[in-house]
Amino acid sequence: MAQDDLKRAVAAAAVRYVPAGEVLGVGTGSTVDHFIDALAASGVRVPAAVSTSNRSTRRLAAIGIPVIDLNEVEAIPVYIDGADEIDASFSMIKGGGGALTREKIVAAVARTFVCIADESKRVEVLGRFPLPVEVIPMARAFVARELAKLGGVPKLREGFVTDNGNVILDVHGLRITDPVALEGHINQIPGVVTNGIFAARRADVLLLGTREGICELRRPQPAQDFGGT
Ligand code: 5RP
Repeated sequence: MAQDDLKRAVAAAAVRYVPAGEVLGVGTGSTVDHFIDALAASGVRVPAAVSTSNRSTRRLAAIGIPVIDLNEVEAIPVYIDGADEIDASFSMIKGGGGALTREKIVAAVARTFVCIADESKRVEVLGRFPLPVEVIPMARAFVARELAKLGGVPKLREGFVTDNGNVILDVHGLRITDPVALEGHINQIPGVVTNGIFAARRADVLLLGTREGICELRRPQPAQDFGGT
């Protein structure tokens, strides 16, 4: 089965996570494109969606789902989005499509984050996929120098401007063993809008498209310390 077929299958499986009659959060990317197609075919009633990119907004409008501003909603029960990499703790690298900032905002609001991915996205350690960092244009060179100090090789995504009017530095060669710490650290660099590590707010559910079928996984809970001696 080709990778795109796995994406299509997992996207179709995600439709049953869509709560009928509720506002839906919708991510960005080719897997999400398949999800929007599957949603259209399903007949599930979605009164409105909050979108994370102009690309998804156009596709949602085309299937007749109104896109509303995030400021108009207090809660998003479910957010459905893809990932570039996901590890065993459900921390992710996202932003291959350049929509990481809006994705992170909508993910923060959502009650349940359903990640839809084909099996190639599952990794032991995050970082083989270059980490996208959205940067205010005037800070590009400074932020690149700071990212190099972390051991990565930042490369400007040529000819690309985000929906927010910023640039993306893709950082190659990182081995991200502590995603929560690195996410926070990079976000502290002046000029960084956000970075593509989704660890502080990670996925709750992973639908993984494999050649053997769809795996449905829940985020592993951290081991509890019951104290005692
Ligand atoms: C976009 C993203 C996407 O979810 C990620 O790049 C996966 O894309 P695809 O579904 O095309 O493999 O984070 O900013």
